[in-house]
Amino acid sequence: MPDLIIDGRPVTVAKGKSVLEAAEALGIMIPRFCWHPALSVAGACRMCAVMFVDGPVKGLEMSCMTPATDGMVVETFHPEAVAFRRHVAELLMISHPHDCPVCDEGGHCLLQDETISANHGLRRWPGRKRTYLDQDLGPFVQHEMNRCIHCYRCARFYQDYAGYLDFGPMQNANRVYFGRFENGPLESPFAGNLADICPTGALTDKPARYKSRRWECERSASVCPHCSLGCNTVALSRYRQVLRIEGRPNAAVNGYFLCDRGRFSSGFESNPARPRQAVIKGRPASLGDALCLAAGRLAETVARHEPAAVGVAGSVRSSMETQAALAALAKAAGWTGPAFFPTRDGQAAVGETLAVLTPDRARSMADLTQADAILCLGVSPLFDAPMLALALRQAVRQQNAAVVVADPRPVSLPLPFDHLPVAPRHLPAVLAVLAGPAAEAATQAQKRLPFAPELWPVLEKAAQTFAAASRPALVFGPALAGPVAALADGGRFGFFPVLSGPNAAGAALIAGPDAPTHDDLADGIEAGRIKALVVAEADCFAVSPRLAALLDRLETLVVCDHLPTPTVARAHVFLPTATIFEAGGILVNNEGRLQQADPVQAPGLPVLFDGQGGHPPRPYDRALPGTDPRPGQVLCAALAGELRLPWRQTPLAALAAGNAALAGVDFAALPEAGLRPDYGRLQAEAAPTGPTGPSGQPAPFPAGGGLAVILDDALFGTEAFGRYAPLAVSLAGKADTDGVVLLHADDAAALGLADGVAAFLEAGDRLAPVRVRTSRRMARGVVVVPRLPQFSILPATLGPCGLRRK
Ligand code: SF4
Ligand code: FES
Repeated sequence: MPDLIIDGRPVTVAKGKSVLEAAEALGIMIPRFCWHPALSVAGACRMCAVMFVDGPVKGLEMSCMTPATDGMVVETFHPEAVAFRRHVAELLMISHPHDCPVCDEGGHCLLQDETISANHGLRRWPGRKRTYLDQDLGPFVQHEMNRCIHCYRCARFYQDYAGYLDFGPMQNANRVYFGRFENGPLESPFAGNLADICPTGALTDKPARYKSRRWECERSASVCPHCSLGCNTVALSRYRQVLRIEGRPNAAVNGYFLCDRGRFSSGFESNPARPRQAVIKGRPASLGDALCLAAGRLAETVARHEPAAVGVAGSVRSSMETQAALAALAKAAGWTGPAFFPTRDGQAAVGETLAVLTPDRARSMADLTQADAILCLGVSPLFDAPMLALALRQAVRQQNAAVVVADPRPVSLPLPFDHLPVAPRHLPAVLAVLAGPAAEAATQAQKRLPFAPELWPVLEKAAQTFAAASRPALVFGPALAGPVAALADGGRFGFFPVLSGPNAAGAALIAGPDAPTHDDLADGIEAGRIKALVVAEADCFAVSPRLAALLDRLETLVVCDHLPTPTVARAHVFLPTATIFEAGGILVNNEGRLQQADPVQAPGLPVLFDGQGGHPPRPYDRALPGTDPRPGQVLCAALAGELRLPWRQTPLAALAAGNAALAGVDFAALPEAGLRPDYGRLQAEAAPTGPTGPSGQPAPFPAGGGLAVILDDALFGTEAFGRYAPLAVSLAGKADTDGVVLLHADDAAALGLADGVAAFLEAGDRLAPVRVRTSRRMARGVVVVPRLPQFSILPATLGPCGLRRK
């Protein structure tokens, strides 16, 4: 622990920290451009010069490159250091275009800040500026090379940290060019981070370009809802429209970065088709009238039948506040529900997954980067939880970790890894082999797993690697929770589950193991026991087509949502809810971490729509248009009020008091980094799970006959919110996932199919037209189907399905 003195103040820092970091520990911000806490040190900009006046180093040196050492005496305001930094700022500005008035970085530009702080204000260089041609880097990142200061942050992030090589530095000396070999979209699914990491306006957020100045935006700490990892974000909104999402540092979760799905899928909140007004039988109505009618019809159903004749369906995408209010409403009224999960097996699996997350076993994404061997079981990191891929890469870079992905789908990752493309039903056996004793592993495997011979060496090598690992980690989907809970590994493996929604864990905590499921509600409707349904922020057509098919039999269907789903279109009474950007809320991520998202904007129609694109908006009115949406929990409370039900103002706290893991949690004061309770306390409650499948897919897979369906997420446009984000939807189409199913080339040949042919996917009595793509890098006996609306016939019939030529 070196002790040193900076600007007359003593400081002690951990060994290996730089003088720049030691100064930060004292609250002294040494100017910098190229240094970034997550990246390797480059020493490229020379802006962090300080004077070493005594100790082992003397003279002017770069503070980011000099390790803090015992006895150092440093002056950051030494006249020579100040003059040096002023000259560096002047040098960097020689070729800068000085186009701040039209630059999107303006207002959060490090170059702007440091130039001012270095007191450089007058351009003395009379010569020509160095100029470059810009490139089209695709839909996310705007290239303006003339603004570049050659700090190499982009190259170090893109190539070293993220592992993609299509963008980087070219040429040399004073003409270094950061770009691609030729125009074209950046290949990395983490490319959007370039906009955050570039300290000038050379690389900016393209979709947000020219939409606002930084200081005009409202900004709030938010949480990404586009997968279960719950990466921390900053949402920026202007005129009631979210314009931009940025990474918010959380050392335990996402570090500094985000994936492109999380960054560019926020458009669902300003989708022009978003339902913002209450509706009664297809006609716009006031919120008060709709609430009154909904309550009246539900009370009628109860009077004519019984309280349990009203069913309640919730979802894994609502905040904990909404989920808890829904549960409190159903309980107070004696209704059936709420059901958050489609099937009982799926619900039990998430509960059991949480129960294995004891403090000694649970791993955060930051913990994963410290593992020396990682097994991903039934998880395709880039599509199921994109930032997981970045964490795996850091484990490889920092710990030389071995990564093995056992998943039936073809897998690509920006890191060296071994792939075991095995059928889902073999995944528990793979787990047993790789977590078992090394000596027996290969023989066990040969006896137990009918793998293709080419997989033997991979399995043998993996078995030896995991047997020798000292910090192994297991990444798994909830469908594997049973085998994971039964794992006899002596407590060696750390656990990192991947769940199937941004708040699946919250729903499991609120529902408990015995709550009804969407299937139970469908049974009730079929049997005539359930006559009315309240659906809160759930699209039956996406999560439970069986329930969707029965909606027409209901006497009353009340739907609350903010997405324009087909379920909303069927509602007898519709009540608009606020999005996470307006209501905020608590989401529980995959590792059980409770995280608070703050609201960033008031509900209301974006000025973009209100003013028909003009500014300022033409219709002058005292009232904001489109302000009917309310947080889900507020609508629940209002319904309870209409029904004269007893209501507590804090249903979440009341409900949590009786929960083994959540008791004592102060929901109003969650720590900034989130809170991970001890889920080991849930172990007694967890029910055993059903058969296995890949992440989020509780369905069984056949041992023979037909193909097993695997619903697969694409990077964009397939998860619940991305389906309604216009940019994400346009990219899903471009990503060639639309209607394309994937199967092993040998399976295709056996069915008389080949790559590129048109075919029908048969599921029960339903047919979906598809185009066939084949691969040899996947398991036999499965067909991988994109999770797109046209395939929503499938979740109810997962299991054997057929493919035949059109
Ligand atoms: Fe959002 Fe998941 Fe991407 Fe994180 S990894 S930014 S939570 S979609
Ligand atoms: Fe130290 Fe760039 S920040 S040289």
